[in-house]
Amino acid sequence: MDNSFVLRGGIAFSESANRITTYYRGYVVCIDGICKGAFHDLPDQYKGLQLYDYGERIIIPGMTDLHVHAPQYTFRGIGMDAELLDWLSTYTFPEEAKYGNMEYAKKAYQYFTDDMRRCFSTRAVVFATLHNEATIELMNQLEDTGIVTYVGKVNMDRNGGDNLQEDSAEESLKATKEWLDAIEGKYVNTKPILTPRFIPSCSDELMKGLGKLAKERDLRIQSHLSENHSEIEWVKELVPESTCYANAYEMFDTMGTPERPTIMAHCVHSDDRELEILKNHGAFIAHCADSNMNLTSGIAPVRKFLDAGIDVGLGTDVAAGSSMNLVKTMLITLQASKMYYRLVDTNVKPLTFEEVFFMATLGGGKYFGNVGTFKEGYEFDAIVVDDSKMYSMRDMSIRERIERMCYNDADALIKDKFVKGKKVYSRVE
Ligand code: GUN
Ligand code: FE
Repeated sequence: MDNSFVLRGGIAFSESANRITTYYRGYVVCIDGICKGAFHDLPDQYKGLQLYDYGERIIIPGMTDLHVHAPQYTFRGIGMDAELLDWLSTYTFPEEAKYGNMEYAKKAYQYFTDDMRRCFSTRAVVFATLHNEATIELMNQLEDTGIVTYVGKVNMDRNGGDNLQEDSAEESLKATKEWLDAIEGKYVNTKPILTPRFIPSCSDELMKGLGKLAKERDLRIQSHLSENHSEIEWVKELVPESTCYANAYEMFDTMGTPERPTIMAHCVHSDDRELEILKNHGAFIAHCADSNMNLTSGIAPVRKFLDAGIDVGLGTDVAAGSSMNLVKTMLITLQASKMYYRLVDTNVKPLTFEEVFFMATLGGGKYFGNVGTFKEGYEFDAIVVDDSKMYSMRDMSIRERIERMCYNDADALIKDKFVKGKKVYSRVE
């Protein structure tokens, strides 16, 4: 199968946050890895291309996981009675410390990358650990999957305990530069991203150094923001001169620019001031509803993010989120927003299915450029879904079927997965 072809099936993709376009037994065209559009009837000029007819199956754009921790994959679902800071110190940091051992790292990252290959994500923005060698191993493995990612060696020079902390800001910055130099020019689909874990893990000096490095080397940054009340209080103590948590990142020049947008995970407790800072910098919010439920962090005001014109995508946040399946994350996003409306503020209408499908595809995809829909000029990322196991006593529209897919994620089987026009996964029947 080369990079130019036509797929036929039930097509669904977002036009905007409020509109999903569908075609029953429609066509979507890929030429040299770029989408030429979706059609009800195949235009004559594409009739010479190889056609793959998926019959009654559904074809949707690939999804973007805007926030996921690769080293946490193998302990997902453990310690879910804890809240953030206890969960980090009791379960997460001891686990991440093990990635100093390359035998362990290789094996554990293989579990992660194998499942990443098989899931709905065609793009992902990934935290590794603070270890250079293991991070490079993860990047090597991800490059082999064909999925497009940003991967970050984590920076932490304080509050990591004995086993998960770099010796000083200087050491952390030096290790970061060594990591960047080691992978320079090595990959096509795997890019580095600077990754200060969060303010409690990084001294002022380290944060400033990373802000400077991002500018010097034209790198993006990812981190966590306003996830949990105790965390927010702690940041106030650690950076007393900041006006809010987002301002602390801003002070250290780590909030990015529209050309180098920073991703902030969570923003569960961000108020209007914080949203304004995010908006002013062109930052993306990674909304992680599964994680926010599991760690009792709260319900993020996603409707406010969208109304403020901030770019929002979805993150699984494994292992605080217990699954890498973004379709499941979509469902929890919907359910959380309904409870926000019912229990927190009846003036804030629940998210619609259209909005959540948009965030999983085009909203998060925007972080990677022209990604996340079947409009002309977009990179061709697609998932072929077999929903025949869901059964139905009547014909359902494509729109009904993708909504059902979301509410019954275990029965939505991925048949094939394409990234930039290349088939990267095919399920063996
Ligand atoms: N804040 C700092 N580190 C982490 C992490 O690993 N997971 C989550 N959910 N929040 C964090
Ligand atoms: Fe996280």
